[in-house]
Amino acid sequence: MDVKTIMVVGAGQMGSGIAQVCAMAGYHVFLHDISQAQIDKGLANIEKLLSRQVEKGKMTEEEKAATLSRLTPSTDLQNAAQVDLVIEAIVENMDVKTKLFAELDQIAPPHAILATNTSSLPITEIAAATKRPEKVIGMHFMNPVPVMKLVEIIRGLATADEVYETIEAITRKLNKVPVEVNDFPGFISNRVLMPMINEAIYALYEGVATKEAIDEVMKLGMNHPMGPLTLADFIGLDTCLYIMETLHEGFGDDKYRPCPLLRKYVKAGWLGRKTGRGFYTYE
Ligand code: CAA
Ligand code: NAD
Repeated sequence: MDVKTIMVVGAGQMGSGIAQVCAMAGYHVFLHDISQAQIDKGLANIEKLLSRQVEKGKMTEEEKAATLSRLTPSTDLQNAAQVDLVIEAIVENMDVKTKLFAELDQIAPPHAILATNTSSLPITEIAAATKRPEKVIGMHFMNPVPVMKLVEIIRGLATADEVYETIEAITRKLNKVPVEVNDFPGFISNRVLMPMINEAIYALYEGVATKEAIDEVMKLGMNHPMGPLTLADFIGLDTCLYIMETLHEGFGDDKYRPCPLLRKYVKAGWLGRKTGRGFYTYE
C-alpha cells in the first residue's frame, strides 16, 4: 500500500519523535494533540534536534527546512480524513485509546491503517473498537525515537498480512529495524525491561541502597547507558505504572505487582523528566 500522508496523534515525547522521523523520511505529517501547548513544545523540540543535526554537518539547512515544511500542526481530528496512516501515541490507557480509535475509524478513509505505539496494551482489544480490525497494528517505537533503532511490530488477531508488510516497509524507510512480536502484555521490550525497573524501585523502597547507588551498579556493572531509576524518569513514571498494571492484570502473577513507591510518586504528580521531578529533579 502506498502511504504518503501520516497523522501522529499525541505530541508528547514519543509522538513528536515519531513525527520527526516520519517527516525526515519524506512523509507529510499532521502532528495532532488535544493540547496546543504540547504541539508547540513538540515542534520546538523537533526544530532544536534538527538544528543540532545541521550544526554537526549531518543535515543541510535545506533538508531541515524541507523536513519542517512537511510537518503540519493539528488540533482538529477531522484532518485524519486526509491521511493513509495514523500512528497513535497518546496516554497508555485502554479506555482513552479505544475511544480515540472508534473516532478515528469514523473519520479516516477506508484504506487508512490505524497503528498504535502502545507500550503494553493488547492490540486485538484496541482493534476491536473499530470496524476495521484488519487494518489495526502495533508499531512500538523506543524512546528517544530519533536515536533508537528498534520498532516492535505487533499484529492483532485480525491484522491483514498486507498491513503488516506495509508497516514493516515504512519502518525500514524510517531507517529503523522492525522486529515482529506476538500480542501478549508488554510484548517483549516491556515484559523484560519494566520488571527490572520495578525491582530497582522496590530496592529503593526497601532501603537496599540509595537511588544513585542503584543506578551506578546497573550502569557500571551491566553497561546500561542509564541506570534503571534514571531510565524510569526518562520514560515517565505514569507510563511505567500503566505498563506494570497491564502486566499484572494480563498475567495475574504477583511478580508484576507495581511497587507502592511508584504509585506514590505518580499520585504526587512526580512523573519524571517531563514534570521536572521523579526520582531525580530536573531544571
Ligand atoms: N531526543 C533525541 N535525541 C537525543 C536525545 C533525546 N531525548 N537524547 C540524546 N539524543 C541524541 C543526541 O542528539 C546524540 O545524537 P548525535 O549522535 O546525532 O549527536 C545522541 O543521541 C547521543 O547523545 P548524547 O551523547 O548526548 O548522550 P548519550 O550518549 O548519553 O545517549 C541516550 C543518550 C541515547 C538517551 C542513552 O542514554 C540511552 O540509550 N539511554 C537508554 C535509552 C533506552 O533504554 N530507551 C528505551 C526506553 S524503553 C522504551 O522506549 C519502550 C517503552 O515502551 C517504555
Ligand atoms: P506523553 O505524556 O509525553 O504524551 C502524551 C500526549 O498525548 C500528550 O501531549 C497529551 O496531550 C496527548 N493526548 C492525551 N490524550 C489525547 C487524545 N485523546 N487525543 C490527542 N492527544 C492526546 O506520553 P509519551 O511518553 O509520549 O507516551 C505516549 C504513548 O507512547 C503511550 O502509549 C506510551 O506507553 C507509549 N510509549 C512510551 C514510551 C516512553 O518511553 N515514554 C516508549 C514507547 C512507547
